Amino acid sequence: MDAYEAIITKRDTRSYLPDPVDPDELDQVLRAARMAGSAKNSQLTRLVVVTDGETRERLAECGDFTGWIGNAPVVIVLVAPVEGGRLFDLGRMAQNLMVAAHDLGLATCPVTFHHQDRLRPVLGLPEDTEGPMAITLGRPGPPDPSRPSAPRLPLDELVHRERWQD
Ligand SMILES: Cc1cc2nc3c(=O)[nH]c(=O)nc-3n(C[C@H](O)[C@H](O)[C@H](O)COP(=O)(O)O)c2cc1C
Repeated sequence: MDAYEAIITKRDTRSYLPDPVDPDELDQVLRAARMAGSAKNSQLTRLVVVTDGETRERLAECGDFTGWIGNAPVVIVLVAPVEGGRLFDLGRMAQNLMVAAHDLGLATCPVTFHHQDRLRPVLGLPEDTEGPMAITLGRPGPPDPSRPSAPRLPLDELVHRERWQD
């Protein structure tokens, strides 16, 4: 699979087999995240890799749409300082790791943790950090036949050329 194919065929998957992820494959995915650039190459973002079942169930209670994430064998929490606007850095890491995982035949889905007050004690995060997003990871389970195939805006609606046009 080349890079373009990996990018355009990747879907977000919430169905996982219970099998653990091979440690070498997990490392490869984490190395892809590591190579994401950051503003001024400051590298202030961190990843917390959670495989423990009880912790994953507790993480499921940290977002409004995360009830299912205990079924994913791995949850990778993206952590950044509260101050400093590092969300773009986190996004780059997230996309790198998701595309690398897809190339390995692994499924992923980004999820939002709306409740940092619940998340911090689960992971022992310092008060000056936050974990706004996580990526679930594992072998894909049965596909959901009711899901539409990648509905996206047409390019003409997404892209404004030269300047904004109504
Ligand atoms: C910023 C962001 C937050 C998301 N949060 C959640 C979430 O909390 N729970 C969830 O199940 N999916 C979440 N998703 C996944 C989206 O629902 C998914 O990216 C979208 O439906 C497109 O899926 P597709 O690429 O398979 O078409 C999130 C995605 C993004 C980019």
